[in-house]
Amino acid sequence: MPVYQVSQSGPLRGEVIVPGAKNSVLKLMAASLLASGQTEITNVPNILDVDIMAQLLERLGCEVIHDKTNQKLIIAVPEKIGHKADYDLVRQMRASIAVLGPLVARCHEADIALPGGDAIGSRGLDIHLSGLEKLGCEVTNEHGYLIVKAPNGLKAEQISLDFPSVGATENVVMAAVLAKGTTVVDNVAREPEIVDLCEMLNKMGAQISGIGTSTLEITGVSELSPTNHEVVTDRIVAGTWAAAAVITQGDIFIKNAKTQHLELVVSKIEATGAQVKQLAEGLQVTMTGRPQAVDIMTLPYPGFPTDMQPQFIAINAIADGTAMVTENLFEARFRFVNELARLGADVKINGHHCLVRGKESLSGAPVEATDVRAGASLVLAGLVAEGETTVHEIHHIERGYANFVENLQKLGANIERII
Ligand code: EPU
Repeated sequence: MPVYQVSQSGPLRGEVIVPGAKNSVLKLMAASLLASGQTEITNVPNILDVDIMAQLLERLGCEVIHDKTNQKLIIAVPEKIGHKADYDLVRQMRASIAVLGPLVARCHEADIALPGGDAIGSRGLDIHLSGLEKLGCEVTNEHGYLIVKAPNGLKAEQISLDFPSVGATENVVMAAVLAKGTTVVDNVAREPEIVDLCEMLNKMGAQISGIGTSTLEITGVSELSPTNHEVVTDRIVAGTWAAAAVITQGDIFIKNAKTQHLELVVSKIEATGAQVKQLAEGLQVTMTGRPQAVDIMTLPYPGFPTDMQPQFIAINAIADGTAMVTENLFEARFRFVNELARLGADVKINGHHCLVRGKESLSGAPVEATDVRAGASLVLAGLVAEGETTVHEIHHIERGYANFVENLQKLGANIERII
């Protein structure tokens, strides 16, 4: 299995370009199923998860052309699509569950293998399913598959989500766009990736209002048409580069980073002592000296993103002071902390809190990426650890970070991908 060999590096300096967001493009690809014809998606990141979602769409009868040079996807959706998402693909990527809403909307039935993906907690589907049941679906669980059927079609309802789940919001919205009547969904997730999805759906002819707020009103239409859409830039990749500047005491221009999607992250980056300059085309993050420890508490957007929590634990591990990091979304995300401890970090977990006492230095060791963000954070820690760090299970990192090693090398990092 390939690994990343990381050695202690000096300050990272230079420019990186932030691509389209993983957590948007996968849902936009699923949304293409809602209309027969040719959808074109641009600003597509070159990551493994896009290839897995492309295979899933092909199994459902679509033709997918992924033009990696131009970061473009062309998806041709037939009149009649399949309704089964097979285990071999769904187990590789939990985001496959995003086809559920479009399939019940188009076919009035969907057989979806129960998903796997990141090992970051139980990640139930109850909120997805109770939303779809309100719209008229019947759900059973047979032999590891969710069998979802809407024998009388989908009908609008008032829905209040128990929690602003990103995935549940997406599935309910993608089902409601073709339901009869006006659905009002309360307590929805408000992430920029949800806004991106709703904007693409409206371009396809959907009638969604309240976009970006916690209540969406969706008036069903009888059919949608294909469209062209550019993926919103990846705020988590941008935040990861900001963390790289802080931890290595570097100076990085993060092109295409959107501050309006990163407000809390930027304020926490500044709290470490870094300077953040908003420029016309992105963010310049400059750090001189050892970072200050910063407390973090994850919450749904616009709260501090769980997807930036491991990067801040890595910063806190070498910071001046002690920080409390509280994880409110995915309890098992702290699995990564044990790997960081292998590098000598002083970390103590109590339930969903992690106490990090900053140390002057870390010491390189073999470690294992437990999920995509954990993997990136172990690489960041490896860049400032004495000696060599070997990061295993890098497929997790490559699921979400395009050209990660090449970008790091361009910034001056000592990192190699070894096959
Ligand atoms: N939850 C339930 N029941 C449900 C749905 C969610 O209990 O029916 C719980 C989950 O177990 C979790 C919490 O609610 O504890 C949040 O889950 P949510 O549905 O909001 O997250 P998701 O859709 O599974 C997406 C991103 C994650 C990101 C979260 C939160 C994708 C493909 N994944 O997951 O991204 O952390 O939203 O912002 O969009 C990553 O990119 O590293 C990643 C894990």
